[in-house]
Amino acid sequence: MSERAYLDWNATAPLRPEARSAMMAALDQVGNPSSVHHEGRSARHLIEQARERIAALVGAEPRNVMFTSGGTEGNMTALSPALETPQNRGGFDRLMISAIEHASVRAGGSFAPGQVEEIPATSDGVVDIGALERRLVELQRQGARPPLVSIMAANNETGVIQPVEAAAAAIHTTGGLLHVDAAQVAGRIPFDISGSGADLMTVSAHKLGGPQGVGALIKQSETLHLAQPLLRGGGQERGARAGTENVAGIAGFGAAAASAIATMAADGERMRSLRDRLESGLAAGPTVVFGRNAERLPNTSLFAAPGLRAETALINLDLAGFAVSSGSACSPASPRARSRSRRPRPRAWTQRALVHRCATSWSRAPRRLRLQCRPPAPRRQLRPKARRRRPEVSLANRTSTKTPPPSPRKNRRCAAVRRFACGPHSHAVPPPEARRPRVGRPRIRRISAYPGQSAKPWHGLP
Ligand SMILES: Cc1ncc(COP(=O)(O)O)c(C=O)c1O
Repeated sequence: MSERAYLDWNATAPLRPEARSAMMAALDQVGNPSSVHHEGRSARHLIEQARERIAALVGAEPRNVMFTSGGTEGNMTALSPALETPQNRGGFDRLMISAIEHASVRAGGSFAPGQVEEIPATSDGVVDIGALERRLVELQRQGARPPLVSIMAANNETGVIQPVEAAAAAIHTTGGLLHVDAAQVAGRIPFDISGSGADLMTVSAHKLGGPQGVGALIKQSETLHLAQPLLRGGGQERGARAGTENVAGIAGFGAAAASAIATMAADGERMRSLRDRLESGLAAGPTVVFGRNAERLPNTSLFAAPGLRAETALINLDLAGFAVSSGSACSPASPRARSRSRRPRPRAWTQRALVHRCATSWSRAPRRLRLQCRPPAPRRQLRPKARRRRPEVSLANRTSTKTPPPSPRKNRRCAAVRRFACGPHSHAVPPPEARRPRVGRPRIRRISAYPGQSAKPWHGLP
């Protein structure tokens, strides 16, 4: 195997050479950007230059760009009941998210689980704007406060581009706010914060050829105020995000953004033609391409070939030199955790069909077909349950025979570690969640059952 074709671009894209050079130069520079001396001011200059470049990528004002540690932090910060606008000083008591959001949005930010509602999507993987409008009208009729709504600009698995403008128009008529997770869109297709109608938007550097671990939350207007920052303690990022900035990462992000602006049009065309070539080849078999009838990102193709197991195909493709995936890289890798995921899963997965997500790239033009694939969640083994022995309770030690003794602490810890395991090494050290009392996942109220709603919830396959 001489050449590898890396096609997991929606999970993370290779670093652009411009980003690498900018980072190397920044790493060689000493100085805290908050210091007033020459070194500090030089580091500050790198950050402000990057801010301008990212603002230019999405048509925002540089002062409205706040750097974060990535898309996840951007989403977590945005989804806060404490957001304030001149029209809405009291914050928000309701969050509406679409059924196809990334895990970092589905977590609900700082909203309580009961405050989160779900907007369905159609069988093409497009957010159902009709259902959103009906729900907004209903809330208005009930005299409820306007909601904060979060809709992704394009889905990371299907590449389907979402009707953000239409959603923004509906939300703004009721006084609500729209947050857009643009992690998969920024740098791949033109996306302008003002033109889209988004009030807040999240971008992630590593999706557009920048480094991992850096991103930005961008406001459309300066009047939007984050009353309760996620990270507090320092005055960085105008007090909205405390902590010394990741200067090298931010410099790399800025350089990647500038490079994306310059190459986006040509790369988009090339990617589209590669994707179409791949899909026309696939059409020879009984393959289903997800979201084919919808507008999609030029670099992404998600398809299923019934009867083919994704695990087997993934391994074979990997051995043949193709890095492909069958789902979001952010889903927990452990089969147990995956099987618990509430993420809507294409029906084909449960039929043990092969699902490939292909994400073609911009800078290293793939000469052959490039795919990315991750196996679907294996079926849970149905093993006969071992009968639990009733605890033997000694009357001498306990006052009541009805109360079983607590299970040993060690066992509970192991269970928690297993539940959160999500990588090859993650079993070694339990993440903080495993040590704290478990907080329930947000119970998301679906609004698909509201009267007059025609579209079915999205299951991936038409
Ligand atoms: C749509 C979307 N939003 C958010 C994220 C999270 O971004 P990050 O990895 O920078 O935290 C991802 C990453 O996969 C994504 O695809």
